[in-house]
Amino acid sequence: MSATWSLDSWRDKQIEQVPDYPDEGKLKGIEETLRGFPPLVFAGEARNLKARLARVAEGKAFLMQGGDCAESFAEFHADNIRDTFKVLLQMATVLTFAGSCPIVKVGRMAGQFAKPRSAPTETVDGVELPSYRGDIINGIEFDKNRREPDPDRLVKAYNQAAATLNLLRAFAQGGFADLHQVNRWNMDFVADSPQGAQYSELADRIDESLNFMAACGLTGDAVPQLRETEFYTSHEALLLWYEEAMTRQDSLTGDWYDCSAHMLWIGDRTRQPDSAHVEFLRGVKNPIGIKCGPTSEPDKVLDLIDRLNPDNEAGRMTLISRMGADKVHEHLPGLIKAIEREGKTVVWSCDPMHANTIKSQSGYKTRPFERVLTEVRRFFEVHEAEGTYAGGIHIEMTGQDVTECLGGAQAISDEALSERYHTHCDPRLNASQSLELSFMVADFLKNQRIGNGKQIAEAS
Ligand code: PEP
Ligand code: CO
Repeated sequence: MSATWSLDSWRDKQIEQVPDYPDEGKLKGIEETLRGFPPLVFAGEARNLKARLARVAEGKAFLMQGGDCAESFAEFHADNIRDTFKVLLQMATVLTFAGSCPIVKVGRMAGQFAKPRSAPTETVDGVELPSYRGDIINGIEFDKNRREPDPDRLVKAYNQAAATLNLLRAFAQGGFADLHQVNRWNMDFVADSPQGAQYSELADRIDESLNFMAACGLTGDAVPQLRETEFYTSHEALLLWYEEAMTRQDSLTGDWYDCSAHMLWIGDRTRQPDSAHVEFLRGVKNPIGIKCGPTSEPDKVLDLIDRLNPDNEAGRMTLISRMGADKVHEHLPGLIKAIEREGKTVVWSCDPMHANTIKSQSGYKTRPFERVLTEVRRFFEVHEAEGTYAGGIHIEMTGQDVTECLGGAQAISDEALSERYHTHCDPRLNASQSLELSFMVADFLKNQRIGNGKQIAEAS
């Protein structure tokens, strides 16, 4: 590991999963343009998130991270942002109520554009073209020109991220997220479903509590937490030219922050300890996630943590386990034991999406809801057995009524997948499935917190 880090020290390292730009001069010009643009988030906000995550690591809060697999230019619309935000608020409400603990809300939003792919090219009817790598890099249409990586897309992605974040900030702080609106977040097409009804019941109980509190003088004016919420953004730090150009030195501390989002993560395909992606992220102070798939060797993960968090700062590292429903018991305990043995402070989060992807009989890339749920359940089981804290979930979801994942209470069948399959990359849970999942996670969380309470009582 080189001792000195600089903004561009990643450029000397082995790099995976990035495009070949045909015109490097144009890319350089775009990087310069981005360097002149305002940051999207501030260092102080990233520090706040780190403090919140430190509470999660202690077992005193729970992380909920969710949003698109890949944001797209085509789906960029205020209604889509609003609906995804609404569902995230609903899920957080369900979890807060069950866990009686703060929920740290982080969107895969306002920058989640670049995608790692299983193959660099795609062949259709004998024609081979570069794979689609996300709208910040190239176009999804199977066309030679559209598939060529185009640096102008970085600026378009920045602008979309800025507008998305602007709206999210308005929603979070401008009254939309006021707890008194809790019943209004239920979407029409979800309201009539069993989980919609369950949510509505819970919302009524919250309303009742708020009325009681108001009678005691605790209103939104007196307690701002009732009328606004904290919402953070995150994405995979994959396209390093973009990330580097968005990185700024904090005037207060002199530290570097990647100001494209509050939290960044390293994907399962780019987490080699000596890689460019690890090198870049070790120098910025944001909270960092690492996706840990079934091939994550405990020693390699420890090596990564030593590089990324040498001072073992709480809230800096989130390990996002994505083993696959049938591999959790095989791989997660060893990883947890290694982290515990070395005394590393991490947030343990579960991504039950990425290792549960299958091709349906009709040919769609999909995820059976049952497997998603099973992975989360096993994640909690393993943590209980190890005496550690299951601290969060990381999901791909949307507020839209899409048909991309099989099953759930709506019983989406293989035949139904074609009805509203809109994702630009991986299949997402729709609004009903997301809410359904949150009720199930709420039960696990409640049991975990009851168990923790008992342990604390027994120890004292
Ligand atoms: C993702 O989160 O979209 C992703 C590609 O995940 P992973 O790196 O875990 O495969
Ligand atoms: Co994905």
